[in-house]
Amino acid sequence: MTSITVHGARPYAVEVGPGVASQLADLAAGRLVAMVHPPTLTTVADRLASRLDRVVTIPVPDAEAAKTPQVLARCWQELAEAGLTRTDLVVGLGGGATTDLAGFLAATWMRGIDVVQVPTTVLAMADAAVGGKTGINLAAGKNLVGAFHEPLAVLCDTDLLATLPTREVRSGLAEVLKCGFIDDPTILEEVTADPAEALDVTSPTFVDILQRAIAVKAHVVAGDLRESTSHGDRVGRERLNYGHTLAHAIEAHEHFTWRHGEADSVGMVFAAELSRRTLGLADAVVDLTRSVLASVGLPTTFDEVAWTTLRDTMSLDKKCRVEPATGRRILRFVGISAPGRVTMIEDPAEDLLAECFATLAP
Ligand code: GLY
Repeated sequence: MTSITVHGARPYAVEVGPGVASQLADLAAGRLVAMVHPPTLTTVADRLASRLDRVVTIPVPDAEAAKTPQVLARCWQELAEAGLTRTDLVVGLGGGATTDLAGFLAATWMRGIDVVQVPTTVLAMADAAVGGKTGINLAAGKNLVGAFHEPLAVLCDTDLLATLPTREVRSGLAEVLKCGFIDDPTILEEVTADPAEALDVTSPTFVDILQRAIAVKAHVVAGDLRESTSHGDRVGRERLNYGHTLAHAIEAHEHFTWRHGEADSVGMVFAAELSRRTLGLADAVVDLTRSVLASVGLPTTFDEVAWTTLRDTMSLDKKCRVEPATGRRILRFVGISAPGRVTMIEDPAEDLLAECFATLAP
């Protein structure tokens, strides 16, 4: 078991390893707990709840269907009926959508109460549950309503990953590998050395790369909780979006049937090609990008005919800047000049973007 501290105004621990969810009982001692979870995790929720003094469990829909104003309003109602006070506790048990909802529920209840996140997917452990971003979706867009609300603690219990489908593990590994490219190249070395071990959630390799990825996220958010604007090689929390500009467009293009990590995998190949052309990223690292992602079964290609649509969708990306004089939307990408050395790529030429996309052809 490893404990990673996220420094900041109120430092908190991210506990990683088998069995760490049992620490919930100590964190909750003397408090009423509202445990938010999807129906698929009812057995786990009941098991954790049986070790708590006072608890109400709140089932919410699976995945993004949980992140709606209607579900949030129902949760508020349940907290009111249970009589949750300012000193009580919300627990988010589930994937990133559940922890986003539970975090926002805690952020808004009585102007903010404690939340302990117990993520149950690799993606949520490596990304969503750490760093205090919380929120819900509106019809107008994802995460349009939210708050920064840092948790009291995050319990990444790797035992909870045992039943996770391989596709979900793969998708989470894309975010883990992203941390390798932006900060900790040892992750890339470990996955390259043994991709099968990296996919095995019970292996020491898996636990090590997960801990490393969480340490990257902890370090990045401690330095820039509120995601300040990045320029040149002064890149804060935005660096966590490596590969994401194209990935978000791919997710929309595929009507959200792709897992986030799958889209990010293709997005990272694109970002590496762009980095090669604008930042001098070595050919060997671009090759490594393709090979390490493919080694764990992640996609690295995309149909060339989709470019025009994807390019238009990228203009809507949150990282875009609008040129005041012309209203033109300027694309911004997170790039790397070497593993661990991040630089923003602003307003790359259109033909360069098209050229990079063409390299993704199957
Ligand atoms: N998922 C990106 C971030 O937490 O900033």
